[in-house]
Amino acid sequence: MIPLSRPDLGPEEERAVLEVLRSGMLAMGRRTQAFEEAWAAYCGVRHAILMSNGTVALEAALRAHGIGPGDEVITASFSFNATVSAILLTGARPVFVDVREDDFCIDPAEVDAAVTPRTRAIVPVHLYGLMADMDPLETVARRHGLLIVEDAAQAHGATYRGRKAGRFGTAMFSLYATKNLMTGEGGFATTDDDAVAGAIRLYRNHGMRVRYHHDALGSNFKPTDIAAAIGLAQLARLDERNERRRRNAARLTAGLAGYLVPRVPEGREHAWHQYTMRFPGERDPVAAALTERGIDTLIYYPIPIHRQAYLQAILPGAADQPLPVTDRLAAEVLSIPVRPNLTDEEVDAVIAAVREVAAPVAGAAGAAVATT
Ligand SMILES: Cc1ncc(COP(=O)(O)O)c(C=O)c1O
Repeated sequence: MIPLSRPDLGPEEERAVLEVLRSGMLAMGRRTQAFEEAWAAYCGVRHAILMSNGTVALEAALRAHGIGPGDEVITASFSFNATVSAILLTGARPVFVDVREDDFCIDPAEVDAAVTPRTRAIVPVHLYGLMADMDPLETVARRHGLLIVEDAAQAHGATYRGRKAGRFGTAMFSLYATKNLMTGEGGFATTDDDAVAGAIRLYRNHGMRVRYHHDALGSNFKPTDIAAAIGLAQLARLDERNERRRRNAARLTAGLAGYLVPRVPEGREHAWHQYTMRFPGERDPVAAALTERGIDTLIYYPIPIHRQAYLQAILPGAADQPLPVTDRLAAEVLSIPVRPNLTDEEVDAVIAAVREVAAPVAGAAGAAVATT
């Protein structure tokens, strides 16, 4: 089997974790601070706040901006559920808009049309590691006085016109085990705003500045220094691994001419968290046939969030909202291996298997744009 994801963990991570264990100081401490400083520097922002996962990092970031009951937050339904549960957990109402077929990300024109007097923020999701179309999103945000809070869970090191993910307002990154940068479980919030960073830190630690003096309502979203130690070792190789993902993606795209391969719009540098193809009308049999041939695949995501069962009780009628591109993509997408530790032979085996089990798509050649 060629797995979709396989973490690269080596002697650096082992040494770093052992050091933490032997220090006897496992909770949030100086390694957390070092990892936060390194990630802030990498992204080019003033503050990075490490937390126990990306979901709580997004919730804390939204709360820190004062978003809560009565507010609306515009986002995509074509994402992992946490994008929306984080919004709901603040008490705000998620408002879904459709995504674009060319980049799988939120459509700025639809965002503009969905703004109401209650709208406070836009949460674009940089899906699969490709950044949303940020220029028109920033124009919409400025026109209506809205915040941008990026869901960059999958986009470590991705860029848009040379600006890294995380530099467009406040942002969240996931550090889950399969992500381009990972700590097993973990998440970052990043921001240039000192007050927002302070509020996130306060919420992360029980609303406590001085021990046992609780100045604000908070929770426990703290990371461990074990996670930070793994993250520091991983960060040292993020660019090199992203480069290998790009090389693998370019090889896949060249080998799969004639199929619906992912596009990289001009001006964007993809982080290739996932390499996601479309197989209209035959996705499920193609997935089953690839599994039979030892190629691991996954559908990110088979059920759009606005159709999830739990949401119907919270937002009655949510499933009736027409989001045609979202629905179509949920029925057609399939991610195939692109991870950095694939050999060229493995990439070629993936290409050969796809060619064997799936039919080329008429007109697809035009959809295959060279990767950067
Ligand atoms: C798009 C997106 N948003 C949010 C999350 C939530 O991050 P985490 O799993 O670290 O809580 C993830 C990660 O799974 C994700 O892929």
